[in-house]
Amino acid sequence: MLAWWVTLAQSAELSDFATVDSSGLVSRNGGGGGMSDKEHQPVSCKAVPGEDVIGHLDAGVAASRVAQQLARRRFLGQGAVVAGLASWPGLSAWASATEASSAGASVSGLSGPLVAKPIPSSGELLPVIGIGTARRFDVASTEEELAPLRTVLRELPILGGRVVDTAPSYGNAETVIGELMQALGNRDQLFLATKVGAGRSGVEAGIAEMQGSLKRLRTDHVDLMMVHNLAGIREMLPVLRQWKAEGRTRYIGMSTSFERQYDDFVTVMESEVLDFIQVDYAIDNRSAEKRILPLAQDRGMAVLTNLPFGRGRVFKQFQGQPVAPWAQELGIQTWAQLALKYVVSNPAVTVAIPGTARPQYLVDNLGAGHPPMPDERTRARMAALFE
Ligand SMILES: NC(=O)c1ccc[n+]([C@@H]2O[C@H](COP(=O)([O-])OP(=O)(O)OC[C@H]3O[C@@H](n4cnc5c(N)ncnc54)[C@H](OP(=O)(O)O)[C@@H]3O)[C@@H](O)[C@H]2O)c1
Repeated sequence: MLAWWVTLAQSAELSDFATVDSSGLVSRNGGGGGMSDKEHQPVSCKAVPGEDVIGHLDAGVAASRVAQQLARRRFLGQGAVVAGLASWPGLSAWASATEASSAGASVSGLSGPLVAKPIPSSGELLPVIGIGTARRFDVASTEEELAPLRTVLRELPILGGRVVDTAPSYGNAETVIGELMQALGNRDQLFLATKVGAGRSGVEAGIAEMQGSLKRLRTDHVDLMMVHNLAGIREMLPVLRQWKAEGRTRYIGMSTSFERQYDDFVTVMESEVLDFIQVDYAIDNRSAEKRILPLAQDRGMAVLTNLPFGRGRVFKQFQGQPVAPWAQELGIQTWAQLALKYVVSNPAVTVAIPGTARPQYLVDNLGAGHPPMPDERTRARMAALFE
């Protein structure tokens, strides 16, 4: 009974959500949840009572106000949600992670906890949705370009997220993140993951690139340093271990998004001790399920999943259509949330890092990190939509 209480409470809560458009206009949306077009996609967030139409606000302020309202309601109902989940068959693991998260991961009094999963090598909990910064954070630093990125970085931890994935190969992204993070003063609330690819030209070039990352990110340490696309992997891993011993990175790992690299990736996973791997995995790109994700579980490696939307590919098939009613009953209001819930409910996956440079996408994507999470039967039903 309690399990259904959770579902019913969530669908009741989500019956009057609002949309925030890219210019910051917040307006009531009577229901539905489908995506009309790429620029105006519904956000699964609450309308602010008494403010059916807030008007043209700064997009970040609008998203923040809407999100805080959502968070406040979730915070008030949080204990019951956790209790309900604990008695939902198959979801007790999620519930315990959520309980632990609610004890420690909430940054502001208003934020409700996202589902969190442990990093196997340490037990540290990470909220299951983070952000990726490829392309969209590579801006020339005008205020117009920076404003939405500042809002995203400010709101990420307030809304319960932590992981920011970047790389020196993403143009200006590390510099932009470093400047914004320093101005916001929230470095300690973020889990910074970056990569080193220059090791392909030798260890010295790799070290210089990693030193450059610390400088650009304006920090004395990153949380995770990964060898990018296997570049100089055998030579760079001892250097990464040295950095970890010296406290310049808290965790080490490697990343790929190319299936042609999977054989070599697996060979390294089988023979090296790594805290993390990062791999491409999406509801319509499940190759990693065959070998890489099970192996990560066997080897005790945390998994970041890149390209969870296939750079927008997953939205094309259902553009303009609402998500199915059975998915809405699970609190899934948008295709982005459906795609992300599929990814992070794989037991091997620790955190998904969707490319997120718009405040309304942040609210939408983090919405996928809240319980309930789909069980195996529901995951199969979700995947069947994309076959
Ligand atoms: N080898 C590697 O290690 C590797 C390779 C690739 C990527 N990565 C990492 O993985 C991250 C994710 O990959 P990605 O950014 O390339 O692709 P992605 O996350 O699969 O998709 C990003 C696209 O989805 C759109 N989007 C985001 N949230 C949305 C929402 N709620 N509703 C509708 N559309 C939404 C974005 O729109 P807009 O364009 O409008 O913002 C963008 O076009 C990267 O940012 C990077 O950090 C790592």
